[in-house]
Amino acid sequence: MQTAIEVRDLEKTYGQGETAFRALDGVNLDLHAGQVTLLMGPSGSGKTTLVSIMGCILRPTAGTVRVLGREVQNLDESALPAVRLNHIGFVFQGFNLFPTLTAGENVELALDLKGLRGRAARRRSEELMDQVGLSGKYTSFPADLSGGQKQRVAIARALAGDPAILLADEPTAALDFASGRLVLDRLRDLAHRRGRAVGIVTHDNRALEYADRIVHIEDGRIQ
Ligand SMILES: Nc1ncnc2c1ncn2[C@@H]1O[C@H](COP(=O)(O)OP(=O)(O)O)[C@@H](O)[C@H]1O
Ligand SMILES: [Mg+2]
Repeated sequence: MQTAIEVRDLEKTYGQGETAFRALDGVNLDLHAGQVTLLMGPSGSGKTTLVSIMGCILRPTAGTVRVLGREVQNLDESALPAVRLNHIGFVFQGFNLFPTLTAGENVELALDLKGLRGRAARRRSEELMDQVGLSGKYTSFPADLSGGQKQRVAIARALAGDPAILLADEPTAALDFASGRLVLDRLRDLAHRRGRAVGIVTHDNRALEYADRIVHIEDGRIQ
């Protein structure tokens, strides 16, 4: 099985001197294509820090991160967005949709970053909305969607770059039971049917049955 993300001896320290705080301490972790890996742990254990580093949003203090075989921890600021754009889709707990754009336009905006515009973008955006079960919601505004629908728009948007890796930080935290399941269903589909490496940070026990692997983190260490 291909290793999509490989993390070795990862450390992350926030702040300096007296106020320095080690949020990650010697973390080793692999995410594989075609699998859902759940990252579970109590609040403050380092989950967001870890998934942000894997998603090339945050830099580690020490250790190595390989994305599809390529070391990224030393890439400079200008090179990291390209790695993110081409290989990694990221879904946040809070949806982060633009309220003045329709659901479909939110997805099109991400396609624009990949250089896809006009009719081709519209077609692709419709396809992605379809993949997450929202084909009828193209012209709806975020305010008129349920939490679960908004989160699925966020997943469609994360798929804009056709990434091999999809990372989600507490994607069901703001959702009711049924909506949470729909979101997890989609994430599992993307791993099992489309071969993506899916990493989900959660402390939602509903997610357990969707996991191929479960990794526990506590005080910045994998248990
Ligand atoms: N920017 C930051 N500056 C200082 N400390 C931080 C920062 N971000 C997170 N932390 C601390 O690092 C620890 C891990 O945080 P986080 O990765 O957000 O954990 P989790 O997502 O598991 O709740 C917490 O103690 C948190 O307070
Ligand atoms: Mg967190």
